[in-house]
Amino acid sequence: MIPVILSGGNGSRLWPLSRKAYPKQFLPLVGDQSMLQQTLARLPIDGVEAPVVVANDEHRFIVKEQLDAIGSEPLAIVLEPFGRNTAPAVAMAAIEVARKDPKAIMLVLPADHAIDDTDAFRSAVLRAEEVARSGGLVLFGITPDRPETGYGYIAARSQDAAPGAARPVRQFIEKPDAATAVRLLEEGGYYWNSGMFMFRADAYLQELQKHHRDIYDTCMLASRSLTRDMEFSRIPAEIFAHCPDESIDYAVMEKTRNALLVPMDAGWSDVGSWSAIWETRQKDERANAVVGDVCLEDSQGCLVHAGDKLVAMLGVQDLVVVDTKDALMVAHRDRVQDVKKLVNLLNDKH
Ligand code: GDD
Ligand code: MG
Repeated sequence: MIPVILSGGNGSRLWPLSRKAYPKQFLPLVGDQSMLQQTLARLPIDGVEAPVVVANDEHRFIVKEQLDAIGSEPLAIVLEPFGRNTAPAVAMAAIEVARKDPKAIMLVLPADHAIDDTDAFRSAVLRAEEVARSGGLVLFGITPDRPETGYGYIAARSQDAAPGAARPVRQFIEKPDAATAVRLLEEGGYYWNSGMFMFRADAYLQELQKHHRDIYDTCMLASRSLTRDMEFSRIPAEIFAHCPDESIDYAVMEKTRNALLVPMDAGWSDVGSWSAIWETRQKDERANAVVGDVCLEDSQGCLVHAGDKLVAMLGVQDLVVVDTKDALMVAHRDRVQDVKKLVNLLNDKH
Protein backbone atom coordinates (compact mmCIF):
# COMPACT_ATOMS: atom_id res chain seq x y z
CA MET A 1 0.00 0.00 0.00
CA ILE A 2 1.24 3.47 -0.90
CA PRO A 3 0.23 6.34 1.39
CA VAL A 4 -0.79 9.49 -0.46
CA ILE A 5 -0.70 12.50 1.81
CA LEU A 6 -2.76 15.54 0.85
CA SER A 7 -0.91 18.51 2.20
CA GLY A 8 -2.13 21.35 0.02
CA GLY A 9 -4.76 23.10 2.13
CA ASN A 10 -4.07 26.57 3.49
CA GLY A 11 -5.83 26.13 6.85
CA SER A 12 -7.20 29.65 6.83
CA ARG A 13 -9.73 28.87 9.59
CA LEU A 14 -6.78 28.52 11.97
CA TRP A 15 -5.46 32.02 11.33
CA PRO A 16 -3.40 33.72 12.75
CA LEU A 17 -1.28 30.69 13.73
CA SER A 18 -1.79 29.02 10.36
CA ARG A 19 -0.50 31.21 7.52
CA LYS A 20 -0.47 30.81 3.77
CA ALA A 21 3.32 30.52 3.87
CA TYR A 22 3.22 28.06 6.79
CA PRO A 23 -0.21 26.38 7.02
CA LYS A 24 -1.53 24.23 9.83
CA GLN A 25 -0.42 20.81 8.54
CA PHE A 26 3.18 21.90 9.19
CA LEU A 27 2.48 23.06 12.76
CA PRO A 28 2.60 20.96 15.95
CA LEU A 29 -1.02 21.80 16.80
CA VAL A 30 -1.75 18.46 18.46
CA GLY A 31 1.32 17.00 20.16
CA ASP A 32 5.03 17.58 19.54
CA GLN A 33 5.25 16.71 15.86
CA SER A 34 3.58 18.57 13.02
CA MET A 35 0.33 17.09 11.76
CA LEU A 36 2.06 16.01 8.54
CA GLN A 37 4.68 14.13 10.56
CA GLN A 38 2.01 12.57 12.79
CA THR A 39 0.11 11.40 9.71
CA LEU A 40 3.19 9.53 8.50
CA ALA A 41 4.11 8.25 11.96
CA ARG A 42 0.74 6.57 12.55
CA LEU A 43 0.80 4.49 9.36
CA PRO A 44 0.70 0.71 9.79
CA ILE A 45 4.18 -0.72 10.22
CA ASP A 46 4.02 -3.62 7.77
CA GLY A 47 3.19 -3.56 4.09
CA VAL A 48 3.47 0.20 3.72
CA GLU A 49 5.69 1.59 0.97
CA ALA A 50 7.26 5.04 0.55
CA PRO A 51 4.62 7.79 0.54
CA VAL A 52 3.59 10.26 -2.13
CA VAL A 53 3.03 13.76 -0.74
CA VAL A 54 1.00 16.26 -2.76
CA ALA A 55 1.65 19.84 -1.71
CA ASN A 56 1.90 23.37 -2.98
CA ASP A 57 5.15 24.29 -4.70
CA GLU A 58 5.59 27.12 -2.21
CA HIS A 59 5.91 24.58 0.63
CA ARG A 60 8.38 22.17 -0.97
CA PHE A 61 11.23 22.86 1.43
CA ILE A 62 9.01 22.65 4.51
CA VAL A 63 7.71 19.27 3.32
CA LYS A 64 11.20 17.98 2.55
CA GLU A 65 12.60 19.19 5.86
CA GLN A 66 9.75 17.68 7.87
CA LEU A 67 10.02 14.33 6.08
CA ASP A 68 13.80 14.29 6.57
CA ALA A 69 13.36 15.01 10.27
CA ILE A 70 11.40 11.77 10.74
CA GLY A 71 13.49 9.74 8.29
CA SER A 72 10.71 9.38 5.73
CA GLU A 73 11.91 8.89 2.14
CA PRO A 74 9.07 9.65 -0.25
CA LEU A 75 8.37 7.94 -3.55
CA ALA A 76 7.54 11.43 -4.83
CA ILE A 77 6.62 14.90 -3.66
CA VAL A 78 4.14 16.15 -6.24
CA LEU A 79 4.13 19.94 -6.37
CA GLU A 80 1.10 21.93 -7.45
CA PRO A 81 1.61 25.46 -8.81
CA PHE A 82 -1.76 26.31 -7.15
CA GLY A 83 -4.47 24.23 -5.54
CA ARG A 84 -7.15 22.74 -7.76
CA ASN A 85 -8.72 20.84 -4.85
CA THR A 86 -8.53 17.16 -3.98
CA ALA A 87 -9.86 15.40 -7.12
CA PRO A 88 -6.92 16.60 -9.27
CA ALA A 89 -4.43 16.25 -6.36
CA VAL A 90 -5.38 12.59 -5.93
CA ALA A 91 -5.37 12.09 -9.71
CA MET A 92 -1.81 13.39 -10.03
CA ALA A 93 -0.74 11.06 -7.21
CA ALA A 94 -2.59 8.13 -8.81
CA ILE A 95 -0.78 8.70 -12.10
CA GLU A 96 2.58 8.69 -10.26
CA VAL A 97 1.64 5.49 -8.42
CA ALA A 98 0.31 3.83 -11.59
CA ARG A 99 3.65 4.41 -13.32
CA LYS A 100 5.04 1.97 -10.79
CA ASP A 101 2.07 -0.38 -10.60
CA PRO A 102 -1.48 0.47 -11.80
CA LYS A 103 -2.96 -1.99 -9.32
CA ALA A 104 -1.06 -0.57 -6.35
CA ILE A 105 -3.32 0.40 -3.47
CA MET A 106 -3.34 4.04 -2.43
CA LEU A 107 -4.20 5.08 1.12
CA VAL A 108 -5.24 8.73 0.76
CA LEU A 109 -4.81 10.71 3.96
CA PRO A 110 -5.28 14.41 4.66
CA ALA A 111 -2.20 15.77 6.43
CA ASP A 112 -4.23 17.69 8.99
CA HIS A 113 -6.31 15.24 11.01
CA ALA A 114 -5.91 14.13 14.61
CA ILE A 115 -6.43 10.47 15.57
CA ASP A 116 -6.28 9.35 19.21
CA ASP A 117 -6.25 5.60 18.75
CA THR A 118 -3.49 4.55 16.34
CA ASP A 119 -4.26 0.83 16.75
CA ALA A 120 -7.91 1.31 15.78
CA PHE A 121 -6.81 3.41 12.78
CA ARG A 122 -4.38 0.71 11.65
CA SER A 123 -6.88 -2.08 12.04
CA ALA A 124 -9.47 -0.20 9.92
CA VAL A 125 -6.79 0.38 7.26
CA LEU A 126 -5.94 -3.33 7.17
CA ARG A 127 -9.62 -4.28 6.93
CA ALA A 128 -9.99 -1.90 3.99
CA GLU A 129 -7.05 -3.29 2.07
CA GLU A 130 -8.86 -6.44 0.92
CA VAL A 131 -11.80 -4.38 -0.31
CA ALA A 132 -9.55 -2.01 -2.22
CA ARG A 133 -7.60 -4.90 -3.74
CA SER A 134 -10.77 -6.18 -5.42
CA GLY A 135 -11.41 -2.80 -7.05
CA GLY A 136 -13.68 -1.05 -4.51
CA LEU A 137 -13.31 2.60 -3.53
CA VAL A 138 -13.17 2.65 0.25
CA LEU A 139 -14.35 5.54 2.40
CA PHE A 140 -13.58 5.43 6.10
CA GLY A 141 -16.74 6.29 8.06
CA ILE A 142 -16.99 7.95 11.45
CA THR A 143 -20.08 7.70 13.67
CA PRO A 144 -21.42 11.27 13.92
CA ASP A 145 -22.26 12.91 17.24
CA ARG A 146 -23.53 16.33 16.09
CA PRO A 147 -25.19 17.86 13.00
CA GLU A 148 -21.91 19.16 11.53
CA THR A 149 -22.36 20.83 8.14
CA GLY A 150 -18.68 20.81 7.18
CA TYR A 151 -18.56 17.06 6.53
CA GLY A 152 -19.87 14.56 4.01
CA TYR A 153 -22.58 12.11 5.18
CA ILE A 154 -22.70 8.52 4.01
CA ALA A 155 -25.59 6.08 4.23
CA ALA A 156 -24.26 2.55 4.11
CA ARG A 157 -26.25 -0.69 4.05
CA SER A 158 -25.34 -2.60 7.16
CA GLN A 159 -28.00 -5.23 7.96
CA ASP A 160 -25.71 -8.16 7.34
CA ALA A 161 -22.34 -6.54 7.88
CA ALA A 162 -20.30 -7.65 10.89
CA PRO A 163 -19.10 -4.78 13.08
CA GLY A 164 -16.20 -3.07 11.39
CA ALA A 165 -16.74 -4.89 8.08
CA ALA A 166 -17.08 -3.07 4.76
CA ARG A 167 -20.60 -2.13 3.65
CA PRO A 168 -21.87 -0.84 0.30
CA VAL A 169 -22.54 2.88 0.14
CA ARG A 170 -26.20 3.71 -0.53
CA GLN A 171 -25.89 7.47 -0.65
CA PHE A 172 -23.24 10.13 -0.22
CA ILE A 173 -24.23 13.68 0.67
CA GLU A 174 -21.33 16.12 0.70
CA LYS A 175 -21.70 19.05 3.13
CA PRO A 176 -25.48 19.17 3.69
CA ASP A 177 -27.21 22.37 4.86
CA ALA A 178 -28.00 22.69 8.57
CA ALA A 179 -31.59 21.38 8.33
CA THR A 180 -30.51 18.34 6.30
CA ALA A 181 -27.67 17.59 8.73
CA VAL A 182 -30.13 17.59 11.65
CA ARG A 183 -32.49 15.29 9.72
CA LEU A 184 -29.71 12.86 8.80
CA LEU A 185 -28.61 12.63 12.42
CA GLU A 186 -32.21 12.01 13.58
CA GLU A 187 -32.81 9.39 10.89
CA GLY A 188 -29.67 7.54 11.96
CA GLY A 189 -27.61 5.04 9.96
CA TYR A 190 -25.31 7.73 8.53
CA TYR A 191 -21.57 8.04 8.90
CA TRP A 192 -19.36 11.06 8.45
CA ASN A 193 -16.92 10.86 5.61
CA SER A 194 -13.51 11.06 7.26
CA GLY A 195 -11.86 12.33 4.07
CA MET A 196 -9.52 9.31 4.13
CA PHE A 197 -9.85 6.89 1.23
CA MET A 198 -8.35 3.69 -0.10
CA PHE A 199 -8.41 2.36 -3.66
CA ARG A 200 -6.26 0.97 -6.44
CA ALA A 201 -4.70 3.69 -8.58
CA ASP A 202 -6.37 2.28 -11.71
CA ALA A 203 -9.77 2.08 -9.97
CA TYR A 204 -9.69 5.78 -9.04
CA LEU A 205 -8.49 6.89 -12.46
CA GLN A 206 -11.18 4.82 -14.16
CA GLU A 207 -13.96 6.35 -12.03
CA LEU A 208 -12.55 9.85 -12.52
CA GLN A 209 -12.48 9.32 -16.27
CA LYS A 210 -16.09 8.14 -16.15
CA HIS A 211 -17.49 10.94 -13.96
CA HIS A 212 -15.16 13.89 -14.58
CA ARG A 213 -13.48 13.38 -17.92
CA ASP A 214 -12.15 16.97 -17.97
CA ILE A 215 -10.13 16.52 -14.76
CA TYR A 216 -8.87 13.14 -15.94
CA ASP A 217 -7.76 14.47 -19.33
CA THR A 218 -6.08 17.58 -17.89
CA CYS A 219 -4.21 15.56 -15.26
CA MET A 220 -3.07 12.97 -17.82
CA LEU A 221 -1.82 15.80 -20.01
CA ALA A 222 -0.10 17.51 -17.08
CA SER A 223 1.57 14.24 -16.07
CA ARG A 224 3.31 14.09 -19.45
CA SER A 225 5.02 17.43 -18.76
CA LEU A 226 6.03 16.97 -15.13
CA THR A 227 9.41 18.47 -14.28
CA ARG A 228 11.31 15.96 -12.20
CA ASP A 229 14.05 17.11 -9.88
CA MET A 230 15.17 14.55 -7.28
CA GLU A 231 12.01 13.50 -5.40
CA PHE A 232 10.09 16.58 -6.58
CA SER A 233 7.61 16.26 -9.47
CA ARG A 234 6.44 19.71 -10.49
CA ILE A 235 3.07 20.07 -12.28
CA PRO A 236 3.18 22.57 -15.17
CA ALA A 237 1.08 25.66 -14.35
CA GLU A 238 0.01 26.37 -17.94
CA ILE A 239 -1.73 22.96 -18.16
CA PHE A 240 -2.98 22.71 -14.56
CA ALA A 241 -4.61 26.15 -14.95
CA HIS A 242 -7.19 24.46 -17.20
CA CYS A 243 -8.06 21.87 -14.57
CA PRO A 244 -11.48 22.25 -12.93
CA ASP A 245 -11.36 22.95 -9.17
CA GLU A 246 -13.28 20.06 -7.63
CA SER A 247 -13.07 17.90 -4.52
CA ILE A 248 -12.76 14.12 -4.73
CA ASP A 249 -16.04 13.96 -2.82
CA TYR A 250 -18.10 15.80 -5.45
CA ALA A 251 -16.12 14.58 -8.46
CA VAL A 252 -15.97 10.86 -7.67
CA MET A 253 -17.22 9.63 -4.30
CA GLU A 254 -20.77 11.06 -4.63
CA LYS A 255 -21.11 9.52 -8.09
CA THR A 256 -19.33 6.17 -8.17
CA ARG A 257 -21.22 2.90 -7.76
CA ASN A 258 -18.14 1.12 -6.45
CA ALA A 259 -17.91 2.86 -3.08
CA LEU A 260 -17.72 0.83 0.12
CA LEU A 261 -17.58 2.12 3.64
CA VAL A 262 -15.29 0.79 6.32
CA PRO A 263 -16.21 2.09 9.79
CA MET A 264 -13.41 3.60 11.84
CA ASP A 265 -13.67 4.31 15.55
CA ALA A 266 -10.31 5.83 16.31
CA GLY A 267 -11.00 9.12 18.09
CA TRP A 268 -10.84 10.96 14.78
CA SER A 269 -11.00 14.72 14.54
CA ASP A 270 -10.67 17.05 11.58
CA VAL A 271 -8.60 19.75 13.21
CA GLY A 272 -10.37 22.24 11.02
CA SER A 273 -11.14 25.13 13.34
CA TRP A 274 -10.22 26.65 16.69
CA SER A 275 -13.23 24.98 18.30
CA ALA A 276 -12.02 21.59 17.01
CA ILE A 277 -8.60 22.30 18.54
CA TRP A 278 -10.29 23.26 21.81
CA GLU A 279 -12.15 19.88 21.69
CA THR A 280 -8.90 17.89 21.33
CA ARG A 281 -7.01 19.74 24.09
CA GLN A 282 -6.71 18.94 27.78
CA LYS A 283 -8.75 21.46 29.72
CA ASP A 284 -8.81 22.76 33.29
CA GLU A 285 -11.83 22.33 35.57
CA ARG A 286 -13.50 25.35 33.94
CA ALA A 287 -12.97 23.95 30.43
CA ASN A 288 -10.19 26.37 29.49
CA ALA A 289 -7.35 25.16 27.27
CA VAL A 290 -4.24 27.31 27.27
CA VAL A 291 -0.80 27.38 25.66
CA GLY A 292 1.97 29.71 26.86
CA ASP A 293 1.95 32.36 29.52
CA VAL A 294 -1.74 32.77 30.34
CA CYS A 295 -3.52 34.04 33.44
CA LEU A 296 -7.27 33.38 33.65
CA GLU A 297 -9.59 34.59 36.36
CA ASP A 298 -13.27 33.76 36.56
CA SER A 299 -13.30 32.71 32.91
CA GLN A 300 -14.49 29.53 31.26
CA GLY A 301 -14.62 27.60 28.00
CA CYS A 302 -11.75 29.61 26.51
CA LEU A 303 -8.92 28.58 24.21
CA VAL A 304 -5.88 30.80 24.60
CA HIS A 305 -2.61 30.70 22.65
CA ALA A 306 -0.16 33.19 24.09
CA GLY A 307 2.77 34.30 21.96
CA ASP A 308 5.67 36.31 23.36
CA LYS A 309 3.69 38.15 25.99
CA LEU A 310 1.47 37.27 28.91
CA VAL A 311 -2.25 37.05 28.15
CA ALA A 312 -4.58 37.84 31.07
CA MET A 313 -8.35 37.44 30.89
CA LEU A 314 -11.03 38.22 33.44
CA GLY A 315 -14.70 37.26 33.59
CA VAL A 316 -15.06 36.07 30.00
CA GLN A 317 -16.58 32.95 28.48
CA ASP A 318 -16.13 30.84 25.36
CA LEU A 319 -13.51 33.05 23.76
CA VAL A 320 -10.69 32.08 21.45
CA VAL A 321 -7.64 34.29 21.83
CA VAL A 322 -4.61 33.67 19.63
CA ASP A 323 -1.62 35.95 19.87
CA THR A 324 1.26 35.86 17.38
CA LYS A 325 4.10 38.24 16.53
CA ASP A 326 2.13 40.32 14.05
CA ALA A 327 -1.53 39.56 14.71
CA LEU A 328 -3.89 39.08 17.65
CA MET A 329 -7.23 37.42 17.09
CA VAL A 330 -10.16 37.41 19.50
CA ALA A 331 -13.28 35.49 18.51
CA HIS A 332 -16.28 33.85 20.09
CA ARG A 333 -15.91 30.07 20.07
CA ASP A 334 -19.24 29.73 18.25
CA ARG A 335 -18.04 31.91 15.41
CA VAL A 336 -14.69 30.35 14.60
CA GLN A 337 -15.97 28.75 11.37
CA ASP A 338 -16.04 32.31 10.03
CA VAL A 339 -12.35 33.02 10.66
CA LYS A 340 -11.98 32.15 6.96
CA LYS A 341 -14.17 35.17 6.16
CA LEU A 342 -11.98 37.33 8.34
CA VAL A 343 -8.92 36.19 6.43
CA ASN A 344 -10.62 36.95 3.10
CA LEU A 345 -11.53 40.39 4.39
CA LEU A 346 -7.93 41.02 5.43
CA ASN A 347 -6.66 39.83 2.05
CA ASP A 348 -9.00 42.29 0.33
CA LYS A 349 -7.81 45.13 2.54
CA HIS A 350 -4.09 44.55 2.37
N1 GDD B 1 -2.48 18.76 -2.33
C1 GDD B 1 -3.64 19.34 -2.14
N2 GDD B 1 -4.14 20.17 -3.10
N3 GDD B 1 -4.29 19.08 -1.00
C2 GDD B 1 -5.47 19.70 -0.82
C3 GDD B 1 -6.03 20.57 -1.77
C4 GDD B 1 -5.32 20.82 -2.98
O1 GDD B 1 -5.72 21.58 -3.86
N4 GDD B 1 -7.21 21.03 -1.29
C5 GDD B 1 -7.37 20.45 -0.08
N5 GDD B 1 -6.33 19.65 0.21
C6 GDD B 1 -6.11 18.83 1.41
C7 GDD B 1 -6.32 19.62 2.67
O2 GDD B 1 -5.08 20.08 3.18
C8 GDD B 1 -6.92 18.58 3.59
O3 GDD B 1 -5.90 17.85 4.22
C9 GDD B 1 -7.67 17.62 2.65
O4 GDD B 1 -7.07 17.82 1.37
C10 GDD B 1 -9.18 17.83 2.57
O5 GDD B 1 -9.45 19.14 2.14
P1 GDD B 1 -10.37 20.12 2.99
O6 GDD B 1 -10.47 21.42 2.25
O7 GDD B 1 -9.91 20.17 4.41
O8 GDD B 1 -11.77 19.39 2.89
P2 GDD B 1 -12.96 19.53 3.89
O9 GDD B 1 -12.51 19.36 5.30
O10 GDD B 1 -13.68 20.79 3.57
O11 GDD B 1 -13.90 18.28 3.49
C11 GDD B 1 -13.38 16.97 3.33
O12 GDD B 1 -13.00 16.40 4.55
C12 GDD B 1 -14.11 16.17 5.49
C13 GDD B 1 -13.53 15.54 6.74
O13 GDD B 1 -12.53 16.30 7.26
C14 GDD B 1 -14.44 16.12 2.64
O14 GDD B 1 -13.84 14.90 2.26
C15 GDD B 1 -15.64 15.85 3.56
O15 GDD B 1 -16.55 14.95 2.94
C16 GDD B 1 -15.14 15.26 4.85
O16 GDD B 1 -16.24 15.01 5.74
MG1 MG C 1 -10.65 19.45 6.28
